[in-house]
Amino acid sequence: MNKEVFAQIDTRKAHKKEPPGPRGHPLWGSMLDFQKDQLAFILQVARQYGEVVKYRIANLTFIQVNHPQGVKRVLQDNYHNYVKGDLWENFNNILGHGLFVSDGSVWLRQRRLMQPAFHRQQVAAFGQLMTENALHMLARWEAVVDTNQPIEVFSEMTSLTMQVVTQALFSTGLPETNQAIKRAITTLLDHVAFTFEVPFYPPMQVPLPRNLRLRAALKELDRLVYAIIHERQEHPVKNADLLSMLMEARDEETGQGMTEKQLRDEVLTLFLAGHETTANALTWTFYLLAQHPAVARRLQAELDQVLAGRLPTVADTPNLPYTRMVIEESMRLYPPAWITNRTALVDDEICGYHIPAGSYVAVSPYVTQRDPALWPEPERFDPGRFTPERSAERPRFAYFPFGGGPHQCIGQGFALLEATLVLATVLQRYALELVPDHPLELHASVTLRPRDGLKMRIRER
Ligand code: HEM
Repeated sequence: MNKEVFAQIDTRKAHKKEPPGPRGHPLWGSMLDFQKDQLAFILQVARQYGEVVKYRIANLTFIQVNHPQGVKRVLQDNYHNYVKGDLWENFNNILGHGLFVSDGSVWLRQRRLMQPAFHRQQVAAFGQLMTENALHMLARWEAVVDTNQPIEVFSEMTSLTMQVVTQALFSTGLPETNQAIKRAITTLLDHVAFTFEVPFYPPMQVPLPRNLRLRAALKELDRLVYAIIHERQEHPVKNADLLSMLMEARDEETGQGMTEKQLRDEVLTLFLAGHETTANALTWTFYLLAQHPAVARRLQAELDQVLAGRLPTVADTPNLPYTRMVIEESMRLYPPAWITNRTALVDDEICGYHIPAGSYVAVSPYVTQRDPALWPEPERFDPGRFTPERSAERPRFAYFPFGGGPHQCIGQGFALLEATLVLATVLQRYALELVPDHPLELHASVTLRPRDGLKMRIRER
């Protein structure tokens, strides 16, 4: 660790109170309980042991921080001490030094270079793209409206958000190239999800069939992405899309831009971080609305009143507060990024507990956002929790679906705009109904997904 980073870490003398937690089996700790149902496990230990909990999964010891004050310390107040570390290796192999996986000075430089591309006004320019793609999806749906034939909402939302991020990145991309990129990205995502389930799977270098597929997809992606970058270098396009903004970005101090490798890493990062999460948020929102007709009616009334039948635009979004509250409440119950991990560099203290150097520290919006002390009747879907007054009463880190502190999601504005515009475009015309007897099971993979998708029928309103 360099001196500069060390100087920024709060190295207060921690007293040595160990966090409580399940003792687990002498060899594998709590691994079986954890693997049986990860969400139930992390929620149950929080209920039983409180603010900070320690447990062991095989040879890895985790400290799970549940209290908003503790989450704030990890993500914000002492974030220099909590780095992404070796738990993020699976992502490193794919994303290189992209923003999502880096820390320290590499991360800071990239964050500064990328931030302008995500300013509100820049993001607003993608609004039309989002609505247009939602309309294309509705055109496809027409064949099944008012029939008994269901659509699978999660894959519909994943294709839609993938299409949006592809066009936002490469506005001038050729359809076949974009298609090939999407296929390769899907292989990468499948792999990341697989290694989530099978954490001890041999690394990419071992020539197993799955690893060979991953390597081929990465090679193909590199070829396609570098070709687009080279094409752009020869024929620059000003401010047309995220790629051009990343290529034009210059470090204020040094005047330097990104190297080709950095551009490649960030393009892949935005692909990976920028679509499945939003697809999840939309999927869960449709699911919850179908179960809560009174909320759905109120939402539709807001859309009818504000839009009066025309398509939603960015300018409408401030006038759709209830739509926004519904999305926020949906991400409280089903946060797409349900957990994140860090490694402590030096000893620390959180909520009075000792955090030894080297600990793996986990924070989970899924757990904190279901804490009955912060959220009365936490299992109940109630968008009314997100009025400005009620939100202001809660501690900042009672709710953190987009993380927080300096690493807070750079795409938050993009995601919320997309979710609002897609929801408004769909629900203005249609109501989505659950298919009876279609089981819905939560699947805590890289993101929080419905295990067997979500089948719904579409009805004209
Ligand atoms: C509902 C949708 C989304 C959710 C719930 C979400 C959630 C998150 C969370 C929790 C983090 C912080 C992770 C950590 O601290 O360990 C994060 C970081 C990030 N997200 Fe998102 N995200 C969403 C959409 C997007 C979109 C649309 C983009 C880009 C177009 C994006 C790009 C990123 C990037 C690049 C980072 C890393 C930021 C950094 O470390 O500086 N995300 N996201």
